[in-house]
Amino acid sequence: MGLHNCYSVGLVSLVSGILIGKYLFASISPPRPKKSKRNASDISETDDEDYSDDSIASEYEVNSTSLNEVPGEVRMTLVVRQDLKMGKGKAAAQCSHATLALYKMITNPESEAYNEQMVKRWEYGNGQAKITLQVPNQEEMDMLYAQAISLGVNSYIVHDAGRTQIAAGSATVLGLGPAPKAVLDQITSDLKLY
Ligand SMILES: *[C@@H]1O[C@H](CO)[C@@H](O)[C@H](O)[C@H]1NC(C)=O
Ligand SMILES: *[C@@H]1O[C@H](CO)[C@@H](O)[C@H](O)[C@H]1NC(C)=O
Repeated sequence: MGLHNCYSVGLVSLVSGILIGKYLFASISPPRPKKSKRNASDISETDDEDYSDDSIASEYEVNSTSLNEVPGEVRMTLVVRQDLKMGKGKAAAQCSHATLALYKMITNPESEAYNEQMVKRWEYGNGQAKITLQVPNQEEMDMLYAQAISLGVNSYIVHDAGRTQIAAGSATVLGLGPAPKAVLDQITSDLKLY
């Protein structure tokens, strides 16, 4: 009898322990991240977060054919300004603008930037490698841009129309390449990963 009672008490505390455990677990589990209520169709050109204005973008056409002699991996480097504190969606969109603009320049036979050989190395050599880095402010971004141009690297600065997050015309991302890693490293080796 005494043994039986003891067993019951043990079972009860085991069961209540499980229940308490479940209850505690439920109350301390992190809240689910709230899904944004906005969907893509809500974003119009007048209030969107990633609209870039090509008419004010820097389009200096760099002849990069001298870099075809430089061996090794070819990549694209995207340098994102940190002082604007762009949201990650905006930064992703700005990087996409930079990638597309660089590609259009270097594949356009009408452009001084046309360099089919470099594009082929990038496209078929190592899966169109891209790297994203951070730069603290516009002055430093401009210095990198000037350096890239002087080294013959295909370059493009994205400017944002800035209707919501940032001031209109702000330079947001500097795109470099495709160009040999060895040359890009001369320009960006001091920068942190984004
Ligand atoms: C997107 O949101 C609008 C209203 O905010 C709604 O009318 C529309 O059905 C939504 N579209 C989708 C695909 O959920
Ligand atoms: C780039 O420069 C090289 C050497 O000066 C020249 O042969 C080539 O035609 C130039 N490319 C373009 C697209 O202007």
